[in-house]
Amino acid sequence: MSQLVSRLDVRSDEFERNRKAMLTALESIEGHTAKVVAGGGERYVERHRARGKLLVRERVELLIDRDSALLELSPLAGAETDDPIGGGVVTAVGVVSGVECVIIANDATVRGGAQSPSTVRKINRALEVATVNRLPLITLVESGGADLPNQSKIFVTGGSSFKDISRLSKAGIPTISLVFGSSTAGGAYMPGMSDYTVLVKEQAQVFLGGPPLVKMATNEDADVEELGGAEMHARVSGLADYLAADERDALRIGREIMAHLRGVRPPSTLTGGSEPVYPVDELLGIPSADPRQPYDIREIIARTVDGSDLAEFKPIYGANLVCGWATLHGQSIGVLGNNGILFSEEAQKGSQFIQLCNQTGTPLLFIHNITGFMVGTRYEQGGIIKDGAKLINAVSNSVVPHLVLMVGSSYGAGNYAMSGRAYDPRFVFTWPSHRIAVMGGKQLAGVMSIIRKNAAEAAGRTFDLDDDAARRQTIEDQIDRESTALYSTGQVWDDGIIDPRDTRVVLGLALSAAMGRPSSGARGFANFRM
Ligand code: COA
Repeated sequence: MSQLVSRLDVRSDEFERNRKAMLTALESIEGHTAKVVAGGGERYVERHRARGKLLVRERVELLIDRDSALLELSPLAGAETDDPIGGGVVTAVGVVSGVECVIIANDATVRGGAQSPSTVRKINRALEVATVNRLPLITLVESGGADLPNQSKIFVTGGSSFKDISRLSKAGIPTISLVFGSSTAGGAYMPGMSDYTVLVKEQAQVFLGGPPLVKMATNEDADVEELGGAEMHARVSGLADYLAADERDALRIGREIMAHLRGVRPPSTLTGGSEPVYPVDELLGIPSADPRQPYDIREIIARTVDGSDLAEFKPIYGANLVCGWATLHGQSIGVLGNNGILFSEEAQKGSQFIQLCNQTGTPLLFIHNITGFMVGTRYEQGGIIKDGAKLINAVSNSVVPHLVLMVGSSYGAGNYAMSGRAYDPRFVFTWPSHRIAVMGGKQLAGVMSIIRKNAAEAAGRTFDLDDDAARRQTIEDQIDRESTALYSTGQVWDDGIIDPRDTRVVLGLALSAAMGRPSSGARGFANFRM
């Protein structure tokens, strides 16, 4: 391995400007996170406490092993949408009784834990993380089921969570439900579909239809405890496998169950590895506030991988795609990072590198700062589509774990070629400096303007320049608003925006989770177009 040599001038005005812009962006992210942590707000939190209940994050804290790290997923789901930010649910990868698990925990202070479209997206993503990484599932349930006024946005696709829990069990991945409160319909199927269920006495209530629904359906005035109380389910229906005395007892039983299941997943093999030789704090000053400003992706790699060591592959060929081998917390990985637009050479180099990593079962880390593939007559004639297709073929059929870190732009087919979300990477994390779209707002607005101008000319109409300028501005603003890291994470296009200084830790936790289902690598790819 050779140690990367940083050329970052940490005393420059540019570095200081970038750092300030990043810190401001992080402050804004922290503001959004604080809203999520506040749950449904003071009134609902106080009512919840007055009922003698623990808050959702307290439950999760008590469930996981003391002093173990928690990798929260999609904390800002629902940002920039009409749904409550955070989706009224906490999803995370955490260690319970020494086993890495996926945790899904309803926040009952947010609309009674009812599931909005963002809740559904977040839960579905957490279930996908459990499935692809073979992580046992623990759900901490207290949910009013479907967010009823929004039912049309969730009903049809939202049902897949029951299927996914069932398939986890079939795949030999245990599922455990701890029920803390009222859990209706969709909420009831969480324990209903799980391998093990624990219900808290005189607190958990599980019903297919709660009292209001029963009243509507059959006019019965049902008694809550008789209809779905914990004791009833433990003694009569048999839905409860364990009756917990209180919330802490339920968490203890959940930990005990997981302790019996230790064999399902090998303990993490990550060893720690040596720290990078450059301070991670300097990551703050690398990306510019202006996403169009280029920087050397090696500066980020040098502050992420063990010992800042990267054995570069083909360093002077296709130089805009940096490829090389490194270790992360002691685990060998292949790194692909963008240093500018992708040409044919970069696409070919990336394809070859991905094949080599598959030959040895080496996981891949993709670091995105990519505006796309090069366009223009010369490049079309040079076969840029064929070469881009090679890279997309390699990415699509690679079976080693892919981790994705989006530090800057992720535009156009560059997103796909770098294993964007649609290409099933195990985890995707972003920095606040991340932007994602088909292309930049200015370019997209310009393309639309040219199309309108051509259409006006073809129809013999006059092209109104003032109207065009106004429309350009509107569309540019819209695209820019929809391209931010916050918008993206609100849609659950990624697993969360992280502080750049936490990159090494977050990638380590993600890699550890992914290595529970390692891969010996793909032995075949689709035909490469030559
Ligand atoms: N969809 C949308 N909003 C819901 C909801 C649902 N399924 N369940 C509760 N809410 C809202 C309530 O309207 C209330 O909003 P508000 O304070 O703005 O008026 C807020 O969440 C808190 O509900 P509240 O009933 O005061 O809380 P609670 O803790 O006393 O009871 C439930 C929680 C879930 C037990 C109770 O609200 C309930 O029974 N909900 C209906 C559940 C149901 O029948 N679901 C069917 C799904 S198919």
